[in-house]
Amino acid sequence: MIKGRIAGTGSTTPKRILTNKDLENIVDTSDEWITRRTGIKERRISSSGQDENTSDLATKASLKALEMAGISPEDLDMIVVGTVTPDRQFPSAACLVQKALKASKAVAFDVSAGCSGFLYALFVADNAIATGNSRKALVIGAERLSSITNWEDRSTCVLLGDGAGAVVLTPTTGPDGILSTHLQSDGNFWNLLYSYDEASKIPEILDTIEGKPFSLRMEGNRLFKKAVVCLSNIAAAALEHHGVSSTDIRLMIPHQANIRIIKAVAKKLCIPMDKVYTNIQRYGNTSSATIPIALDEANREGLLRAGDYVLLVTFGAGLTWGASVVNWSS
Ligand code: COA
Repeated sequence: MIKGRIAGTGSTTPKRILTNKDLENIVDTSDEWITRRTGIKERRISSSGQDENTSDLATKASLKALEMAGISPEDLDMIVVGTVTPDRQFPSAACLVQKALKASKAVAFDVSAGCSGFLYALFVADNAIATGNSRKALVIGAERLSSITNWEDRSTCVLLGDGAGAVVLTPTTGPDGILSTHLQSDGNFWNLLYSYDEASKIPEILDTIEGKPFSLRMEGNRLFKKAVVCLSNIAAAALEHHGVSSTDIRLMIPHQANIRIIKAVAKKLCIPMDKVYTNIQRYGNTSSATIPIALDEANREGLLRAGDYVLLVTFGAGLTWGASVVNWSS
């Protein structure tokens, strides 16, 4: 049976750091509240004119992933980007990445699945590989949430950041690779996290941000409870499907929305926190980009060895959620 294997990872974040202290000058909040309630200390914010739009970040992350995989962009046959903040409504961010990489043979398109965009994109590309429709696929999670953040809403603006991560998938018939991706959606709860047609007023000290004509609205408290249940249930189902126990997991890489959500899910799955990768402290919630950025950092830190079981688990607007079990490739 053919399945996709992760042959390379890459990630990038914008240069500008926005700390909790900086946010104290923008909304009525404190470093103490943000740290205690979310685990976030700082996040990265794209600046206009700095090649830090969604497709720019996606391209930079992709080049690193391609270099690690030893694959040239011309050999790619598929580029899938999970994002809710493409540079423009259309064309897709994926087509802009294709142009920047000169990946002329690749079919390129975006997937919209809220913060779960990366796992949904991975599902599509992995299936294309399994059916022989793709042999070298680039899967990206990339966001510029700063462009849709409501900078007057303290309950959301402290959570979000910008960044991108990418993986290169190639086929394998060995024991390694993406064992499966379980996905679920429930549109009945769309109104817990959605975009509304009103631009945010950008504060003076953030005047390098390029805002979009819509912003993000969230019912954090209800979402928090849904997230814990959905994440733990789908992760447990994915593990059970493969007969993998939580003690077999080398590393869980969860969507980074709130450290309290991550800890609650880890506890429910009986996975100790030293087997859970977190970087929410540095980047906040970068939506589709959280998992591929964390995966790349863990990979480059040498935390993953051939044969290790890695659990990717995500949750986002839609609602959408999912889990992937990966047998790490050498
Ligand atoms: N600084 C200080 N106080 C804040 C604040 C901030 N940045 N944001 C909210 N508060 C206040 C609220 O106004 C409220 O005050 P009140 O009790 O006087 O009304 C109080 O803190 C508690 O608010 P609440 O919303 O109940 O806090 P919480 O513990 O649920 O934490 C979130 C808020 C947003 C951090 C949390 O709900 C969360 O992370 N939700 C899920 C996020 C998520 O998963 N998002 C996306 C999925 S991809």
